[in-house]
Amino acid sequence: MKKITIAIDGFSSCGKSTMAKDLAREIGYIYIDSGAMYRAVTLYCIENNLIDGDLINLTKLKSAINDIHISFKLNVETGRPDTYLNGKNVENKIRTMEVSSKVSLVSAIDFVRTAMVEQQQQMGEEKGIVMDGRDIGTTVFPNAELKIFVTASPEIRAQRRYDELAAKGEKADFEAILENVKQRDYLDQNREISPLRKADDAILLDNSNLTIAEQKKWLLEQFNRTIES
Ligand code: DC
Repeated sequence: MKKITIAIDGFSSCGKSTMAKDLAREIGYIYIDSGAMYRAVTLYCIENNLIDGDLINLTKLKSAINDIHISFKLNVETGRPDTYLNGKNVENKIRTMEVSSKVSLVSAIDFVRTAMVEQQQQMGEEKGIVMDGRDIGTTVFPNAELKIFVTASPEIRAQRRYDELAAKGEKADFEAILENVKQRDYLDQNREISPLRKADDAILLDNSNLTIAEQKKWLLEQFNRTIES
């Protein structure tokens, strides 16, 4: 059967990763969370004191960028891929509020995006990949056969992130999360390089009122329709 490239873009915390992971598992494709890559670079900056408030030491980051290696390895317990930064599992560390509050700054830097997009394109060379992010259908894989653009209301997305953190036993403040979601929407849509926007040929999905099962069924239908065409 022919293999295709699937690009899933959309706003933060709208369940893109869950739907992309589930679809990839179901159809036997590789799944790549491109947001995790920007989060890992952000963690690198925090751990190496390259961020001071809202200021990033661009000179140091630029000279380090080619030494920042991000990879994914399947976690047999969760059945999902974990993110590795220079060989260390950072899956939990990249999901903290500290990283969330700085990641928009880091992901707006041109040389960071160039380096990540290059790695992402290499990962997708053989097709058979589901990648989620903000610019996958527009910049990373403009020729992807199936493009989905996902959205949901900010309040619903904040609640989902709150539940995710609470399930991990992390302290969470709903209002702070909602503020972070709104701020990231603004920054993602208004940054100069590769701003978040729906590709003209992407299918829009508002999942505010869909269950995970309904969403899964819908996505599988889109996949089957695409490979049959
Ligand atoms: O999907 P996420 O919330 O884990 O993404 C983290 C951040 O990375 C988000 O603020 C936007 C950025 N990002 C990006 O700029 N381009 C991508 N392809 C994926 C994520």
